[in-house]
This record gives sequence, C-alpha cells and structure tokens, in this order.
Amino acid sequence: MIIREIEFTLKDGRKALIRSPKDEDIQGMLDYLYISAGETEFILRYPEECSKYTPEGEKALFDSINASETQAMLVCLIDGKVAGNCGIHWNTAIKTRHRASVAIALLKEYWNQGIGTRLFQEMIRIAEENENILQMELDFVEGNTRARALYEKMGFRIVGIKPNAIRLKDGTLLNEYSMIREIKRM
Ligand SMILES: CC(C)(COP(=O)(O)OP(=O)(O)OC[C@H]1O[C@@H](n2cnc3c(N)ncnc32)[C@H](O)[C@@H]1OP(=O)(O)O)[C@@H](O)C(=O)NCCC(=O)NCCS
Repeated sequence: MIIREIEFTLKDGRKALIRSPKDEDIQGMLDYLYISAGETEFILRYPEECSKYTPEGEKALFDSINASETQAMLVCLIDGKVAGNCGIHWNTAIKTRHRASVAIALLKEYWNQGIGTRLFQEMIRIAEENENILQMELDFVEGNTRARALYEKMGFRIVGIKPNAIRLKDGTLLNEYSMIREIKRM
C-alpha cells in the first residue's frame, strides 16, 4: 500500500520525511542495506550477503509492496538520503490474518533521533486501521538494548525466547526474543 507522507523534525533539528518507496530511492536503499549490515550484529545479514540485492530486485520489491493491500514499507529520508526503513505485513488467511509482523533498521548515523519512534507510531496507526489486525509481532536479538527500549516504549512486551537462534561468524550464539503488542478494539 502507499502510505501517507509525514514530515517531522529530528531531535537534532533536521527535517525528515517518511513515505512509501519510489524508484529514486533504489540506489539509496541498496547503500543502506549494505552499510547497515556492517554497522550492527543485530540485523540478519552480513555485508557480503547483500550482493543478492540488485536495482531490478529493489524496483520489483517496491512495486510489489506499494501495490499490496497487506504490506507497507515506510522509508525515512533525511535531505533526500535513505536513512532507513521499516515494514509491516500481514496475510489474509482466516486463522492468522489478525497478526501483523513488523521490522525496522536505520543507518547508525541516524540512531537516537526519534525516527524509530515516529516510524512505529505510523505502523501502529496502519495496524489500527485494518480491522482484522489484533496484534503486532516482532523479534529482536539478545543484547539489542536500544531496539528493546524502543519496542517497550511503543507498547510491546516479550512473549518468548528462541535459544541460539542467531549464530555469528565467530561462532557466538545469541538468543532471539519475540514480542507482541495488542491492538485494542472496542
Ligand atoms: C533500533 C532502532 C531501530 C531504534 O531506532 P531509533 O530511531 O534509534 O529510536 P528512537 O530514537 O526513536 O528511540 C530509541 C529510544 O531508546 C533509548 N535508547 C537509546 N539507546 C539505548 C540503550 N542503549 N539502552 C536503552 N535505551 C536506549 C533512547 O533514549 C530512545 O528513547 P526516548 O525517545 O524515550 O529517549 C535503531 O537504533 C536501529 O536501526 N538499530 C540498528 C538496527 C536494529 O537493531 N534494528 C532492529 C532489529 S530487531
């Protein structure tokens, strides 16, 4: 789906824009995918695994998500540069259409500026607008205190642990935590 455009101000005073992805974001998105993979252990790709992402693939992904009625990508741009994005998707199967999955990542230079908070506010609004959705779900990797703080601030709580779900290149095994946030319906 195409989301509404949102302008807001970062904690450091810069202006930011949130909107659906456009073709002009393709190179910025590829750069973001590669750079962010090397900036944190808490996202599920290493930089060398980003060679599978291509301009054609990104265009097809943008077009598919923008045309979908069950998913949205929210891109955050600062001075025209892709700072990061988040996504929400759900399905139409009767038994599971009440569950929406979300994920988020930003370039390190834009952490702690309130972007995550603003993106989550908008994803929650999207979930609330879909009458089928009763809960939002996400996972985070052990040790990601910044992400956990954001998620708890936005109303998520831990509901499960998957032991040793992540194995880093050096062999370190990390647990993955599952969180949910209920969507209140009258
Ligand atoms: C996790 C992430 C999306 C958060 O986005 P963000 O824009 O930095 O988040 P915000 O600035 O909106 O809010 C972060 C909150 O955590 C707090 N925080 C920051 N660092 C913290 C830490 N080490 N421990 C606890 N809280 C922390 C901030 O104070 C802020 O709360 P406040 O607004 O009440 O002051 C972003 O840091 C990121 O992209 N990280 C790398 C990728 C990643 O981990 N993605 C999530 C995978 S599950």
